[in-house]
Amino acid sequence: MVLSKKEDADIAEVLFSAESIRSRVTELGALISTDFSDGQPLTVVGVATGAFIFLADLVRAIDVPMEVDVIRAESYGQGTESSGQVRVSSNMKVQVEGRHVLLVEDILDTGRTLAALVGHMVVKGANSVSVCVLLDKEERRIIPLVLPPSGKQYTGFQCPDQFVVGYGLDFDEKYRSLSYVGVLRSELYSS
Ligand code: IMP
Ligand code: MG
Repeated sequence: MVLSKKEDADIAEVLFSAESIRSRVTELGALISTDFSDGQPLTVVGVATGAFIFLADLVRAIDVPMEVDVIRAESYGQGTESSGQVRVSSNMKVQVEGRHVLLVEDILDTGRTLAALVGHMVVKGANSVSVCVLLDKEERRIIPLVLPPSGKQYTGFQCPDQFVVGYGLDFDEKYRSLSYVGVLRSELYSS
């Protein structure tokens, strides 16, 4: 893989190359297409901003009629650590009542964001709530991901407990446009 962007200089190690992400997204799309082939309406909801590239690639790999929207959740805190409180700060335009919802998120870390958003979709009357995350930092989990009955969980890759950026993931809003996921050089965020 050729590294040719200015932000590449801040990456200590590439964990998931653009090619490996592309092939995993194709696999996830095929799995999801099979699982949601029951003819019931599907709404795919990306969690802004981090999921925007994953969402764009994933929906094109899913061959089921769908609606697509985004939602924004903020946790109080910034930098590399999020705090305990999560709130929906920008809601969807589409209705999810009576529909299958597939939440698409960049990374599952403590689990707080997705726990809040799954609850939000249940309250909105979704028929089922499933989750697709590109990365899972399983050892960091504080809140286990509990899905309502018939909800499914899809994971791109297990991620080591390191701060990663690229393919939508940021540090202070930077590095999102890198086409791979890499470890940020720690001297850039630790003080
Ligand atoms: P959770 O609520 O702790 O599961 O955190 C999920 C959110 O934290 C993600 O949507 C990311 O915005 C952010 N996050 C967690 N780990 C990383 C990382 O390694 N790089 C960039 N963002 C991260
Ligand atoms: Mg995020």
